[in-house]
Amino acid sequence: MEFKTLLFEHQEGIATITINRPDKLNALNKDVIEELGNAIDMLVENKEIRSAIITGAGAKAFVAGADISEFTTMGIAEGSDLARRGQTLVFDKIENCPKPIVAAVNGFALGGGCELAMSCHFRIAAENAKFGQPEVNLGLIPGYGGTQRLTALVGKGKAMEWCMTSHLVDANEALQMGLVNHVTTAESLIERTKEILNIINSKAPLALAKVIACVNKAGSADGFETEVRLFGECFATADMKEGVTAFLEKRKATFVGA
Ligand code: COA
Repeated sequence: MEFKTLLFEHQEGIATITINRPDKLNALNKDVIEELGNAIDMLVENKEIRSAIITGAGAKAFVAGADISEFTTMGIAEGSDLARRGQTLVFDKIENCPKPIVAAVNGFALGGGCELAMSCHFRIAAENAKFGQPEVNLGLIPGYGGTQRLTALVGKGKAMEWCMTSHLVDANEALQMGLVNHVTTAESLIERTKEILNIINSKAPLALAKVIACVNKAGSADGFETEVRLFGECFATADMKEGVTAFLEKRKATFVGA
């Protein structure tokens, strides 16, 4: 599939999706949203791909937000539709993707950019990363899940303050607050992210998908019950039998994703 606004490549089981509008700081316009949704479908369907990185083109930005130039003619219905389409087509799809997706955050991750990074399963930041939900500067609020995911990641007090003040969170504060897992130099960002994904890619794919499903249920009424059910389902997989047998035979397991 050809993309206008993304670069999509995969190597050794890892897909890299690069949002490619550097002259607009990779702002999320309608095309990017639609193509990102298609790219996630592609990586789920492609059996050679085990996991993915989402990043932004250029040295300055991961994504500087939704494309503000599209807002000028919108009313209530269009605004709700924009948020709903984005959440369904992209943000929820990333969060619930059965293959691990990690945000490699290079530079500004503002508004929809911060929300995109937060919808990924976890985040690695370059030292120049800056996170924020500055929508109130525009008379808006986050619309791609920011109020929900930021609260889940950093707690209610910080989420309230950051969304109310448009505070720009630098990489070290993001690390301290649990918004990102690691901080690295801009030059080694992709390499460091791939190192972590290579570890993940050596594990049983169906178990990874179940980890994602269970962790995403944390805090919900059926979180524990989901874990019980999916733990049980692991026993029906060839990979669970292989993993346990390999341990007992003191050898490295070979997982096939079945
Ligand atoms: N939507 C549309 N275009 C955007 C954009 C966005 N969210 N963010 C940046 N751009 C565009 C700018 O309009 C500019 O385009 P131009 O060269 O055609 O004028 C280009 O990207 C470069 O941005 P610029 O503002 O000149 O860079 P800067 O280094 O001075 O500032 C930011 C960088 C990130 C601080 C600033 O671009 C910004 O505040 N962006 C908006 C962030 C935001 O409010 N996001 C939430 C949206 S809901």
